[in-house]
Amino acid sequence: MVKSNTYTNTSFVYETKLNIPLEYKEKCIDALYNLKTHPVAPRDKSFEDTFDEQNSGQVVISNYNLVVEAPILKKLLDNITKIIKHHVFPNYLEDQWDLNMASCWGGIYEKNGKALSHNHIPFYYSFVYYLKTSDQSSPMIFEGNDNLSISVRDDLLLFFSSGQYHHVPPNKGEDRIFIAGNMELNQK
Ligand SMILES: [Fe+2]
Repeated sequence: MVKSNTYTNTSFVYETKLNIPLEYKEKCIDALYNLKTHPVAPRDKSFEDTFDEQNSGQVVISNYNLVVEAPILKKLLDNITKIIKHHVFPNYLEDQWDLNMASCWGGIYEKNGKALSHNHIPFYYSFVYYLKTSDQSSPMIFEGNDNLSISVRDDLLLFFSSGQYHHVPPNKGEDRIFIAGNMELNQK
């Protein structure tokens, strides 16, 4: 069951649960913790601007092709692509358009880790899926005239218009572990 918020005139935020098996989820989490010992992510300017680690907690993040770095996540990412396609294509002609995952990454917000306001232009849809959260995990905030604050919890998938600005306040709880990605819409 997918819940949809028509957030602004141009933006949508969908939320749903995937119910992935516990054993598989734990393997995915282990794979993301391994990123901590094999840091490969370039700390480029856009990363620094978004996560502002010097003034907050650390955000450990993979590179932008998570499947190569952690192949076990492929099944999960393929499933997410399928779910997003299913919800996009009622509005488009599937024989003329294709929706592909253009980039995907995973990360861990440690205590006080945060993300400043940003969007994912030029992509079409973006998503975030939470593998591990706690009661004190910071929410995902979608920005508008009134902010839409979504409490994150294990197994929650959010997908949203890539142009939608969003941010994550400083994380108060334990490690908040997620994967995320961008989808592009191409004419066939
Ligand atoms: Fe983002």
